[in-house]
Amino acid sequence: MKQAVAAAALEYIRPKLEDDSVIGIGTGSTANYFIDALGGIRAEVEATVASSEVSAQRLRDNGLPVYDLNSVDRVSFYIDGADESNRALQLIKGGGGALTREKIVAAVATEFICICDESKLVHTLGDFPLPVEVIPMARSHVAREMVKLGGDPVYREGFTTDNGNIILDVYNFPVAAPLEIERKIDGIVGVVTNGLFAHRPADILLLGTPGGVETLYPQ
Ligand code: 5RP
Repeated sequence: MKQAVAAAALEYIRPKLEDDSVIGIGTGSTANYFIDALGGIRAEVEATVASSEVSAQRLRDNGLPVYDLNSVDRVSFYIDGADESNRALQLIKGGGGALTREKIVAAVATEFICICDESKLVHTLGDFPLPVEVIPMARSHVAREMVKLGGDPVYREGFTTDNGNIILDVYNFPVAAPLEIERKIDGIVGVVTNGLFAHRPADILLLGTPGGVETLYPQ
């Protein structure tokens, strides 16, 4: 299903590609399928920007040009997976730890195309532990603040983000009001980003199901 939605995303953007289109690329197993599919049309791809070092390397391995986000004027499409999506296409992301760069590229992109298998569609976000990227020295402080908000933060052992920070995964934290909670967590000193994509949700969700790929728009 991940491979099918990656192929559907390629089919969706291909007719819209222009000579100066920049494609933003996410991180994770679904995004990897998209990178590999994009490699198949490398001659039509002018530029990409990546949301992680690992995706940048995979893009280069596929013969695709990778640019620094600061060197491009705009990003036409951002294609990425998610850990959860609700029907408003608000997401939890960051299972792979790339949430901050993902959020930056998504913010710049004109159109955010999320690609997931159907297991990721939920009624209320929060069954998946919410990743929070934190400056290392603020780890205990942020963990205490997350407990005050009602969650159970767990330090992701042995993991450092591309930005040199740590991740707290917050368990047992149903997110009834994603817009408010995203802002609240971002307001804790020491937090770099949290994995709620509510203020910048996806614009379209290509959802892999056993019956084929469904296209969902925010409700
Ligand atoms: C990485 C992410 C991924 O998009 C998310 O974890 C989904 O991954 P996968 O496509 O492997 O299921 O947010 O930080």
